[in-house]
Amino acid sequence: MAIGAMSSSSPSSSPPLSKLATSKAHGEDSPYFAGWKAYEENPYHPLNNPSGVIQMGLAENQVSFDLLEEYLEKEQEQVFKCGSNFRETALFQDYHGLKDFKKALASFMGEIRGGRAKFDENRLVLTAGATAANELLTFILADPGDCLLVPTPYYPGFDRDLRWRTRVNIIPIHCDSSNDFQVTRKALEDAYKEAEKKRSKVKGVLLTNPSNPLGKVIPKKILEDILDFVTKKNMHLISDEIYSGSVFTPNEFVSVAEIIEENGYKNSERVHIVYSLSKDLGLPGFRVGAIYSYNPNVVITATRMSSFSLVSSQTQRMLASMLSNKEFTEKYIRTNRERLRKRHEKIVEGLKEAEIECLEGNAGLFVWMNLRPLLEERTREGELKIWETIVNEVRLNISPGSSCHCSEVGWFRVCFANMSEKTLEVALKRMKDFVEKKKMKNKKQQQKQLFGYYFG
Ligand SMILES: Cc1ncc(COP(=O)(O)O)c(C=O)c1O
Repeated sequence: MAIGAMSSSSPSSSPPLSKLATSKAHGEDSPYFAGWKAYEENPYHPLNNPSGVIQMGLAENQVSFDLLEEYLEKEQEQVFKCGSNFRETALFQDYHGLKDFKKALASFMGEIRGGRAKFDENRLVLTAGATAANELLTFILADPGDCLLVPTPYYPGFDRDLRWRTRVNIIPIHCDSSNDFQVTRKALEDAYKEAEKKRSKVKGVLLTNPSNPLGKVIPKKILEDILDFVTKKNMHLISDEIYSGSVFTPNEFVSVAEIIEENGYKNSERVHIVYSLSKDLGLPGFRVGAIYSYNPNVVITATRMSSFSLVSSQTQRMLASMLSNKEFTEKYIRTNRERLRKRHEKIVEGLKEAEIECLEGNAGLFVWMNLRPLLEERTREGELKIWETIVNEVRLNISPGSSCHCSEVGWFRVCFANMSEKTLEVALKRMKDFVEKKKMKNKKQQQKQLFGYYFG
């Protein structure tokens, strides 16, 4: 039986499970995951299933996979020299991670920020992906019933990662299109008041910079304001910078690490950065993530807790070799950025031809698309109705804004880097045809209403 199909109310013959095991806080029934199921049941293939569902709900980077394969082919011996140190690789790994790998990862994190921030491997804690890093940090910074403030729209996985097992709450910082969904002081204060009303202790703010789902970096001034806010309230700041190497206009991205350095590390003990190789290097299957904290106690505790989500020694050795090869990292970062920029341009142009607007973006593996003008009713139901048509009839799996807790209806996240260019063209053609038909249908309906009004 598929995990999704398991019922929380088990038959009386089996003993009951824990509250956590049966809680709905995982969020698996949200449209974000439902769309994945539609894809899995009927996946598009250009030859074998050309009318299948195209997966545009998965933020995966495949545009530079050839560079990884080329490197592995060339450096096979160096990368897979497990033969000589098989024992070391296979036997006990303590929870501190391999020094060579941490050093290479710290240097890579500096490189993708154009050398504007330095990373010390002693502040790094390895985890099985950013998923584990975010949960682990939440366990360390907050107690059950406490909360984190998170700007909306946010990555739907946070409902699982920050809330489910930790029993910590998320209070949304509501952002809207009037200022391109950027965080304002008022929105921060409102979220804080909301938490007070709910009698939930606010332990910190969690940002995603660049943002998923907006595909946009947070301007430096806003980042400084948020840092000032958390300092005044004596809270933590988690900056999930998983897309930091996927910015197409690299000079526009400012990591919180740069601000910390500029400020001479003042107030730095409240700041923690999350990173992973799932997006920038396109290796989500390797499960390599990290917490970078300026707080020594957080580093010590996170290191102990990382026992539950270690990265295998084999993976660490392989990536240590790859990331310490400067010729490779320099070429990879530059090429990957350029390819993402072109892909982004292509999807924005294609959607424009279909008369669909997107938020102006400069990072990530997706665009934030506005279908508000096409909604029959401007409600959450109206948004889900058009989403169902797009998934089931147009056969494109995109993610509705409501699954990202967006406070405005009609926005959708559309991923563009997990498919070939040809598949993207098919998807754009389907979208264009859909919009034309939809506009025609809406017009007819309006005429009918008008006709009915005058003559009915
Ligand atoms: C903002 C953000 N954080 C964390 C994750 C989880 O990443 P990982 O695959 O490293 O667990 C994702 C994945 O989409 C993400 O977009």
